[in-house]
Amino acid sequence: MRAYYYDNVPGDQRLPHDYSPSRPVSDETLHSINVKYWQIPVEGYEQKINAIAKERNYKNRDTINVSKAAMGEIYEDKIKTFFEEHMHEDEEIRYILDGSGFFDVRETPTDAWIRLAVEPGDLLVVPAGIYHRFTLDEKNYIKALRLFQDEPKWVPHNRNEATDANPYRLEYLKTIGVGA
Ligand SMILES: [Fe+2]
Repeated sequence: MRAYYYDNVPGDQRLPHDYSPSRPVSDETLHSINVKYWQIPVEGYEQKINAIAKERNYKNRDTINVSKAAMGEIYEDKIKTFFEEHMHEDEEIRYILDGSGFFDVRETPTDAWIRLAVEPGDLLVVPAGIYHRFTLDEKNYIKALRLFQDEPKWVPHNRNEATDANPYRLEYLKTIGVGA
């Protein structure tokens, strides 16, 4: 997984949006905003994913396939929804099996976008309460495993004043040592 600052240049969200030269984001920075990731080779991944799932208490999983062919008519709408800045009240855990895409996460307190370019073998944990968004890249295809505890809590809370005051948002800010 490559992590770098998003250039904020208007235009197609599926382009890399990398500064020239690139402004890489360090593991320390990712750690400071509580984003976690592991690399687990796709070949024979089950055993390692099972171990992490057990350790972190993720009892369930399913597979999501994001492509025009797989999603049909709802594809364009879904792509737009995924790219709206939002947070969840639970972790968003994705293990990339095939294809690729970009998770953008907000750095706090700078409010800069950090782009995470995910590829097969990347296991990413987007913490509860962090503002983020997702887009496919120009290949228009990703297949990922979604891990969750009991019931998936993937309701997106779009960024606004009410969401800024959401207890999970405030808890996140406390976790990273910023704000209330
Ligand atoms: Fe999300």
